[in-house]
Parts: sequence; C-alpha cells; structure tokens
Amino acid sequence: MMLNVLFAANASRWSQYQVPLRRAFDAAGLKVTLFTETNAPETVDYIIYAPNGAVSDFTPFTGCKAVLGLWAGVEKIVGNTTLTQPLCRMVDSGLEEGMVEWVTGHVLRHHLGMDAHILHQNGVWEPVAPPLARDRTVAILGLGELGRACAQALAALRFNVLGWSRSPKDVPGVTCLSGEDGLDKALSLAEIVVLLLPQTPETENLLNAARLARLPEGAVIINPGRGPLIDDDALLAALDAGHIGHATLDVFRVEPLPPAHPFWAHPKVTVTPHIASETRPDSASRVIAENIRRGEAGEPFLFLVDRAKGY
Ligand SMILES: NC(=O)c1ccc[n+]([C@@H]2O[C@H](COP(=O)([O-])OP(=O)(O)OC[C@H]3O[C@@H](n4cnc5c(N)ncnc54)[C@H](OP(=O)(O)O)[C@@H]3O)[C@@H](O)[C@H]2O)c1
Repeated sequence: MMLNVLFAANASRWSQYQVPLRRAFDAAGLKVTLFTETNAPETVDYIIYAPNGAVSDFTPFTGCKAVLGLWAGVEKIVGNTTLTQPLCRMVDSGLEEGMVEWVTGHVLRHHLGMDAHILHQNGVWEPVAPPLARDRTVAILGLGELGRACAQALAALRFNVLGWSRSPKDVPGVTCLSGEDGLDKALSLAEIVVLLLPQTPETENLLNAARLARLPEGAVIINPGRGPLIDDDALLAALDAGHIGHATLDVFRVEPLPPAHPFWAHPKVTVTPHIASETRPDSASRVIAENIRRGEAGEPFLFLVDRAKGY
C-alpha cells in the first residue's frame, strides 16, 4: 500500500532529509509518497514533525496514524489539544553521540581548568596539575536516553558520577538517585551539574535559588536540557555572589538569546546557541521508517510520549 507522509519540519531541513528518508523507507520495504505540502490533509498517514515547521493545527489530518517528532524535547507540542494521534519523540543514535561529545567536552573544560591556559597566557609559569576525574563529582540530572549515555561516558573517564531521575534507575558505574532526597544529595555533592531533564511543569525552575544554594561553593552548571529548568535571576545572583563558579548554557527561555540578555556579557557564563546536539538525518530517518513500519504492522510505536507526564 502506498503511504502518504507529510514532512512538516522547517523547510530548510527538507534538503537534508529527503534523500535519507527515501533511502530509509526503501530499506524498510515501505512505499511512500513524501511531500512537504498538501491540499488533502485527510489523506496523510504520518506526519514527520518539528515545532519550527508549518503545522500546529492537527485537526484536518483526520486519517493520520501518528506524529513522528524529529526533536527529543516535546514541550512545544505535548500540550497541543488538536493532536489526538500517538506522538513519538526522537531517540537517535546521532543525537546521543553528539550530546555525549558536547557534555564530555564541557565537563573536561571545567574539570581540567582549561580556561586558565587557553584564555590567560600571561607569562606566569604556575605548574598546578588538575585533579584526577576520580576525585571530581559530576551530577547528571535526568537519566533518560541522553543523560544515561553522558553519565556512562563520564563514568568511563572515571568521574565520580551521580545520576538523578524521576524513577529509580540502575546504570553501571553511576550512583543513581531519585526523589527529593536524591536531588538534595546530588546537589550537595556535585562540583559539576549537567541538566538533561525535559521541560515539564514539574521541572520548570528546578534549579531555583534554594537548590543553587545547596551546591558546593564554586560549582559549575552545564545546561544542554532546556532554558526554563533554571531560574535565570537566581543563577545570575549566585554567579555574582561567587557561589556558582561558572555556567555553560546551551538553551534559554527565549531563543535566540536576545543580544541584551545579561548572560552574553557575563564573565562567568558561556553561551552556546542551542547546538549541544542535533538530530542527524541518516540515523533519524531510520528511526522514522521503523516507526512507520511498526504502525503499518500493528506493532507498538517506539519512543511514544507519555502525554500525562509531558515527556
Ligand atoms: N540542547 C540540545 O541540543 C538538546 C538536544 C536534544 C535534547 N535536548 C534536551 O534533553 C532532554 C532530555 O532528552 P532525553 O532524550 O534524554 O529524554 P528522556 O529519555 O525522556 O529522559 C528524561 C529524563 O528526565 C527524567 N525526569 C523527567 N521529569 C523528571 C522529574 N520531574 N524529576 C526527576 N527526573 C525527571 C526522566 O526520569 P524517568 O527516567 O524516571 O522517566 C528521565 O530520566 C530533552 O527533553 C531536551 O529538552 C537538548
């Protein structure tokens, strides 16, 4: 049977995705008509979706069997009341690899104190060797697809890794914590905190003034999760007070981060423009094709979003 699949991500992505998608559909034995616009929304079988695309009202897509997101985060669609079909988010090996590299790189920057030599070549010979990773505690908040992969990579480098999630977990080499007590413990020990939680009503402002105060003096915050996980004003206050040593932020409440935002000029903040990782067309296309194959075979979809939990 010929399937109609609407590519409803940002138009700029079409040139990157159309060949890998067609290749993945062929490999999965799917016969697909793939298009970016339609005058007959009721005939669409599946929608490949990203929040920066043109579709936000799903009401006309009466025959749609699932919406397949290209992003890992779903906060922009999960509350969309016009969407009644199953919603799958993106879990992509390429996205995971990129996140592991970005997180590891930024953790190592702060662990090794690289700025001292990269930014401050001042003719002063100060041979102070950095500590070993085994003597550095890193907490990863969020032990999902991305948090778990980052925690394991850091554990492989011998960091003392704490992980925190909603439900209890068992990750080799990682001390897994959950619940409010677990968060307290993780924060009280973490010299470096990495945020890889989804944005939900429960995680908004998770790092507020009280929780920032629990971190050890000089702790570093690395946020590739979502901007609203942190109370920005509380963070700026904690940086200015010297309690927090540095914040490396990839995600923000408003993106692009406005030029006048104090994060840009702050000497203890590193801004990266939401590039920690992105979905990679080749591997992601195979995930999309596999989910369509499952839908057609009556098998459960992979990576279904729990609409009640919000991720
Ligand atoms: N900056 C970038 O370039 C970029 C790229 C991709 C993704 N992201 C962000 O990374 C986030 C994580 O992605 P993922 O694929 O790893 O998500 P995921 O697999 O859904 O994992 C989310 C983790 O957060 C935990 N969690 C959720 N709500 C919680 C709460 N209230 N209290 C404690 N733990 C909670 C979950 O706990 P349970 O395991 O118990 O459910 C899970 O461990 C995405 O939502 C997105 O915002 C950013």
